Amino acid sequence: MFLESAFKPFTTPRFQHDQIMTTQLKTKRIWNFSAGPATMPPEVLAQLGDDLINVDSTGIGILEHSHRMPTFDRVLGDALDSCRQLGEIPNDYEIIFVPGGATVQFSLIALNLIPDGATADYPDTEVWSAKAIIEARDAVPTATIAVPFEGKKFHYDHVPVAGEMIPTPGAAYMHYCSNNTVHGTRFHLPPTAAPGTPLVCDASSEIFGRPMDWKKHALVYAAGQKNFGVAGMCVIIAHREVIRKPVRKLPSMFSYASHLDAGSRINTPPTFAIHAAGLMFRWMIEQGGTREMEKRNDAKAALIYKEIDGSGGFYRGLSRLECRSAINVSFRLKNENLDQKFAQEATDAELDGLIGHRDAGGIRASMYNAMPIKASEALAAFMRDFARRYG
Ligand SMILES: Cc1ncc(COP(=O)(O)O)c(C=O)c1O
Repeated sequence: MFLESAFKPFTTPRFQHDQIMTTQLKTKRIWNFSAGPATMPPEVLAQLGDDLINVDSTGIGILEHSHRMPTFDRVLGDALDSCRQLGEIPNDYEIIFVPGGATVQFSLIALNLIPDGATADYPDTEVWSAKAIIEARDAVPTATIAVPFEGKKFHYDHVPVAGEMIPTPGAAYMHYCSNNTVHGTRFHLPPTAAPGTPLVCDASSEIFGRPMDWKKHALVYAAGQKNFGVAGMCVIIAHREVIRKPVRKLPSMFSYASHLDAGSRINTPPTFAIHAAGLMFRWMIEQGGTREMEKRNDAKAALIYKEIDGSGGFYRGLSRLECRSAINVSFRLKNENLDQKFAQEATDAELDGLIGHRDAGGIRASMYNAMPIKASEALAAFMRDFARRYG
């Protein structure tokens, strides 16, 4: 895969403490359809590479800077500002960066938002919302986690349509996953909760991939490693009143209000992940923002759905047509042996990361915001050729 290893022995004179010669090798890269961690833009990777050694001409790399010093003040400030600009996030919504992945938020959301004895609605649309249900129940055993839609009964092939879900009156919130990463379904519009019940959204696999209607949401969260950077952090975007008023006293690291009060720096934050997020936000703004991301994501997904729909049943999508994801396209071939063959031959053709999630099987092409359309064109051509050879 690589033309030449980028690594040289640590004893080489190129690596002195006060002078480092970076590697100037041309490195061949292939298309990476992984569901996450996922593809990042080459220009952001190159900037991160430079900044590892020396960020902002300080003579110190981003991994080595204290999180309390001015350089990191700049990095964090830029990341917060560009996140707000990119997402067009209203001023009465707060942004915090918290350590850990989206799975941590499954418990923290329940701890911060559901009072004892209250109910929260959790439509189950897939693996991730199912995990969120389990974690919320464990986190607040005194509350009721109601499941007004059980997608498992339908093999998770769709999200609830009008009338299919009866929300709980007076629920503290309705938690939903806007884009279901594994089965490749999504809510084209946010679900309808009971009157007065706000929405809480796991947008991990599509954040900034289309504009968001913030006013319908009390809180939106997403892990970094798919659409805006690297693993190790989440962004939480929440209405000020919600974040400022946790329903119970919590240890500081569990409390969104404490993270907000400490400016996302209660302790040492994931400094590299925050810097990567800042660069990704800026990259997306320069590309044209969330509307441009949406246009591109729709176009990339359409190329793959065209091959599925035109294959005469050789490829079968996992999602119903009306709720297909524009980011994760999941499908099966005629039999499991062909799934394996497809994934193997695709890797040989430099199209990697296509094997489906262990819970759904089959093939999954994840095409997040940073994935160029050329990758989808290459995959579509491969699918056509594969179907011609094995169909
Ligand atoms: C929609 C969704 N939610 C949550 C998660 C879990 O994220 P993490 O691994 O950061 O905990 C994922 C990971 O793929 C996801 O796709």
